[in-house]
Formats: sequence, structure tokens, C-alpha cells
Amino acid sequence: MTMITDLDLGSSIRVAAIRELDPLAADRACFLLREQNARADVPAMAAELRRLVPRLDTAEGFDPQQSVAAMRDLGMFLGSIKRHGPEPLELVPEVLPVLRILGHRTDMVPRDVVHHYCTWNPTGGRQRMYLGDVQEAYLQESVRMVFPHLREGLELCAILSRTEVHDPKFALLTQALTDHVETMVTSISMVVANVTPEFFARELRAYFDEITVGGEVLLGPAAAQVPLWLIDQAIWASDLSEPSHEEFVRDSVPYSLPRWRELYEDWTRVPSVVSRLVEAYGDDPAEAERRMPDLRDGAEALARLLRVIVVFRGRHLGIARKAYDADLRLFPVGSGGASVDLLKQIIDLTRATARLTGARQGHQPPAGRAPKAGAARAQGRTA
Ligand code: HEM
Repeated sequence: MTMITDLDLGSSIRVAAIRELDPLAADRACFLLREQNARADVPAMAAELRRLVPRLDTAEGFDPQQSVAAMRDLGMFLGSIKRHGPEPLELVPEVLPVLRILGHRTDMVPRDVVHHYCTWNPTGGRQRMYLGDVQEAYLQESVRMVFPHLREGLELCAILSRTEVHDPKFALLTQALTDHVETMVTSISMVVANVTPEFFARELRAYFDEITVGGEVLLGPAAAQVPLWLIDQAIWASDLSEPSHEEFVRDSVPYSLPRWRELYEDWTRVPSVVSRLVEAYGDDPAEAERRMPDLRDGAEALARLLRVIVVFRGRHLGIARKAYDADLRLFPVGSGGASVDLLKQIIDLTRATARLTGARQGHQPPAGRAPKAGAARAQGRTA
């Protein structure tokens, strides 16, 4: 069996093709799932899942796009069964080898992730939904609309991480990245306007619960898998983060696309963009700007990018706090396995990083955060 890791399943052409696919002939079953969820009819869901599970030779014959579409549809049943209590693989153990084949074929985890549930999901009459509620559709759309922008943004980060901070291209690239990241603000604003914390907490959250696949606990298709954490990694988090955030990022890596895992590995080994900027400014910012006239534009562009990320995180923290309020929530932590306290810590870290870049432009003393010891070592390794 060939595994096509260099096939970009996130490209717009492939996304469109995957949405069209129905390799398990599951359109009708996926539609009826909404009713089964409303009735909490686990026997009906389990029977349908058993019927959908393809023969192993059929699954092995799927190309990567069909494998993604099959994982998407099986995943809807896995999450639904778990929402009502049972571990889905205990009820339908024959799905395990198929999940493994599909995961292997796409070089991804052997269950559905947020991109199956949102980006690779058809729209209109064939849209796969747990509940069929318009608020669920808004949440799916919120991820679908940011996906192509973050994908482009990550490729810009790859260029940025190889561009000198005093290069005139640096500010232009950073501004282009900011334009893509702005969609996160549009997305969360749409969610805040159209999704109530009650709906998320009481109706939808339970469908994103973790399940056990062959002894391995795998998280559900949570929005926390949207790769903003990977943009952070390139810009500041590879050497300006803190252990609990680093752990959250490490836990998110397996749920991402192969290309993004590759980028994570690359950026873990090199100093972050912000650390390079701080280094370039050195102890005498005014003199550094005289020597490198384009440095200031770069610093300003980075500060703008970080402000946009802070705006997203501020609005996101607002709705997360409400949905995970002790009186409302059914689960103590998010479906990505982290708490609202961690979200607060991430926004604080992002703000502190923004201050670090701002301080340079204002020619003020450093804001009190220095790259970690490892960053200095990593700096020695950069090109
Ligand atoms: C009702 C709406 C939402 C709630 C209650 C919510 C809640 C949470 C919680 C509790 C976390 C912590 C990690 C975890 O899931 O375990 C988290 C993380 C995250 N969420 Fe959401 N979320 C919501 C909507 C969204 C949307 C619409 C997006 C983006 C399109 C998003 C993107 C993220 C990201 C990127 C993280 C990782 C942490 C970060 O980078 O700041 N969330 N969310």
C-alpha cells in the first residue's frame, strides 16, 4: 500500500473533491444520524456504523481523498455514539482495522479531526452534522472559513522563518500573514454573534469527546486543532513559551496535517521570528535602526500581527469563559484537552510577546522576557 504523504489534502482543489466524495455511500445514513442523536438511539447508530464499515480490501483500495471522506463519515458515528455514553469501538470493534488503514493512508491519526468535521465536510443537503442545528453550522463554517487562510499563512511563516528581520521583504511578508490571520477575528466574531455558550456547552461539546482507538485515547474534532498554535510556534512560541503551553502544542501536533507536523519540527529547532528581531535590535535599538533601516518596518508589522492574534484570543476567551462557567459546563476542560486557564495563559504570553516587539520600536528597555537558554543554542544553528 502506498502512502502519499506529499499529497496536499488541504489544497482547495482537493478539499472541493473530497467534499464531493461519498465512498461509503453514507449520505443518507449521515442525514438520519441527526434524528438518531435526537432520540439518543445508540443501537441504531451502532447498527448503521457496522453497515458502513467497508471490507479491509475495499478500504485498502481507497485513494487518499477517498480515505479522508471515509474517515469523515465514520467519525460522525464514533463521536455520536460516545456522546451518549459507550466507547464506540467496544460496540463496533470491526471498525478498528479500517480506522488504522485510513489513518495510515493519509498519514494522520486513526480518527477524524476538526478538518474532517469542517473543511472536508460537504455543504448544503449533504452536510454531515451531529445535530443539524444552525448554530452547529456556524461553528463548522467558522473553521471552514479560516482553513485556507491559515494554510497560506503557514507557508508564509515558512518563508518568514528563512528571511532576515532587516530584509525589506520581512515587513511585507508579515503584513500578508496578518491579512490571513485576520480571518480568525472574523470567524470568532461570527461565532460570538450566532452561537450561544449554552448551545456549545450543553448541546454540542459532548460530541467532541475523546474515544479509545486500539488502546490509544484520541481527542475529538475540536476547534483547538485549528493551527494557530503553529503560527505561534514560528513567530514566538518555539523559544518564548512556557511549559504548559509547550505541552498543549505538543499534544496538538499529532492531529494536524503531515505538512504542518513537518513545519513544527523545523520551527522547534530554530529561534522564533520575535527572538531574531530582539537579537537584531540588541542593546542599542537606535543604532540598530540606523544600521538596518528596514528593521523598524519589520518590528511594526510583527506588532500588528500579534495585536490581531490578541484580538482573536480576547474574543475567544470571552465565549470560552462563558461556555466553561462552572454553572453551565458539563465538562471541566475543552475538547482539545486544555482548560480556560490555559487560554488565559496563552493570551498573556501573546501580549507579553507583543510588548517585546513594541518595546523595540519605542527604543525602550527590554520588556523583561528573554529567549530561553535553548533559544541561544538554537540561534547558533540558524542559517
Ligand atoms: C463556542 C465556541 C468556542 C468555545 C467555547 C471554545 C473553547 C475553547 C477551549 C476551552 C479551548 C482550550 C483548549 C481545548 O479545547 O481543550 C479552546 C482552544 C482553542 N480554540 Fe476554541 N472555542 C470556541 C470556538 C472556537 C473557534 C470558532 C475557533 C476558531 C475558528 C477556535 C479556535 C481555538 C484555538 C486555535 C484554540 C487553541 C488555543 C489558542 O490558540 O488560543 N475556538 N477553545
